[in-house]
Amino acid sequence: MGFTIRVNGNAHSVDADGDTPLLWVLRDVLGMTGTKFGCGMALCGACTVHIDGSPTRSCVTPVDSIGDSEITTVEAIGKTPEGAAIQKAWLNLEVVQCGYCQSGQIMSASALLAGNSHPTDADIDDAMSGNICRCGTYLRIREAIKQAAQSVGQGG
Ligand code: FES
Ligand code: FES
Repeated sequence: MGFTIRVNGNAHSVDADGDTPLLWVLRDVLGMTGTKFGCGMALCGACTVHIDGSPTRSCVTPVDSIGDSEITTVEAIGKTPEGAAIQKAWLNLEVVQCGYCQSGQIMSASALLAGNSHPTDADIDDAMSGNICRCGTYLRIREAIKQAAQSVGQGG
């Protein structure tokens, strides 16, 4: 079937079965490989994208459920103030180890900051609890989110 989906501000016509997970449309049809496959069961967060600003597990989101909603992926999150601040803080604090989980972490963290400019530790733990990191970067992720929150509060 043919679908038109909006990704990072652009409309894309894709040919796929309606129950194809968005993750595979992004990676295999559109060649946008920043979004990662981890578990395929909404358990790890590696595949997180934003749909109309909400962090969403693309591995369990059928392409026919998206309609006109706006999808944002890690390839474009740096164009938002929160995404830019998160990416800068990630670099400052050298959050990344193997990196595999990190695009999903950045997408969840950016969505958190967009909705809550002063997150507490509990807010951060709650927002990030669905993003698993086998390398155990959780403490640095928390610090980086706080640094990014300060930077957004100061206008970048
Ligand atoms: S790959 Fe989607 S949550 Fe793990
Ligand atoms: S940085 Fe390796 S899984 Fe998170």
